[in-house]
Amino acid sequence: MDKKIVVLAGDGIGPEITSATVVTLNAVAQKFGHNFEYDYRYMGGSAIDKFGVPLPEETVQACLASDGVLLGAVGGPKWDAQPAENRPEKGLLGIRAALGLYANLRPAVIYSELADASPLKPSVLAKGVNVMVVRELIGGIYFGPRKELDDGKTAYDTEIYSEEEVRRIAKVAFDLAMTRNKKVTSVDKANVLLSSRLWRRIVIEVSKDYPEVELNHMYVDNAAMQLVKDPSQFDVLLCPNMFGDILSDEASQITGSIGLLPSSSLGTCKAGLFEPIHGSAPDIAGQDIANPIATVLAGAMMLDNMDLHEEARAVEKAVEKVIALGYRTPDMGEGKRVGCAEMGRLIAENI
Ligand code: IPM
Ligand code: MG
Repeated sequence: MDKKIVVLAGDGIGPEITSATVVTLNAVAQKFGHNFEYDYRYMGGSAIDKFGVPLPEETVQACLASDGVLLGAVGGPKWDAQPAENRPEKGLLGIRAALGLYANLRPAVIYSELADASPLKPSVLAKGVNVMVVRELIGGIYFGPRKELDDGKTAYDTEIYSEEEVRRIAKVAFDLAMTRNKKVTSVDKANVLLSSRLWRRIVIEVSKDYPEVELNHMYVDNAAMQLVKDPSQFDVLLCPNMFGDILSDEASQITGSIGLLPSSSLGTCKAGLFEPIHGSAPDIAGQDIANPIATVLAGAMMLDNMDLHEEARAVEKAVEKVIALGYRTPDMGEGKRVGCAEMGRLIAENI
């Protein structure tokens, strides 16, 4: 099959981890007889350097016309002085909105070989951790009305949700729960926020179509606590945009596998955007020591979204094999030490 993939390498370690991933995708193409065409575009800090803006219109058009978008990471201290409206992060928020990517799926799982890297006690981890954070991605306080008042001393952002925005993300969460452990925990702050009361009302409404799925509601402060106290209680964690941003970082960190976790953003556009959960790690950029596995697994999620399921499983298996063989980038602890490019080659070899 012919597939057109836009690669947004981005900043920091982005170019290294995406190029290692392209090596593995090429191995998939060769093995399964596909033709993947890569279209490299700019977004984030690199786009500011080249075009003066974090999200050039030609990047948006290329993504809209593609079958999938592979993203490394964006941002870094180099662009800290940019005005708020022109920061690298604006590129990421802009592409999410432009592609209508309202559903962000962030799995947090523990790889048993790497359980030592978790900051939680073995007794807490004993029951396993397999949480899927389903984060609403193009609504809420990230996109609500905002303003800096003329006095320069006051500013506001607005948490705002419509019934429809809640309904479509709730459906994604319940559909996913049906393929997993049939449990949804919906996160809100309904004891304080009106938008959360609406969120809860619509989530309950949607749940009626999924009688097999157990639904719980949890205030976000309690959810943050429960995640470190007993992460095994969670299956699908359904969150508004900002709560999901915060809790997904927490969830990924407790697995100790931050260099291994991919995420996907799906919505109204056929393409979808696939990226590692971690950031651009400017402190280790250009040293060939970053871990490409999260991005490689994001590539597998992209293959799934292209209906290339056997191919996606082949990538996952190759990653498991390489981990089992003991190959480790520095973040993964003791083992046969390899760099970013070498890790990509090893995974490709095992496909
Ligand atoms: C994330 C990031 C982004 C977000 C930033 C970089 C805008 O933290 O993808 O979680 O807040 O959504
Ligand atoms: Mg975040």
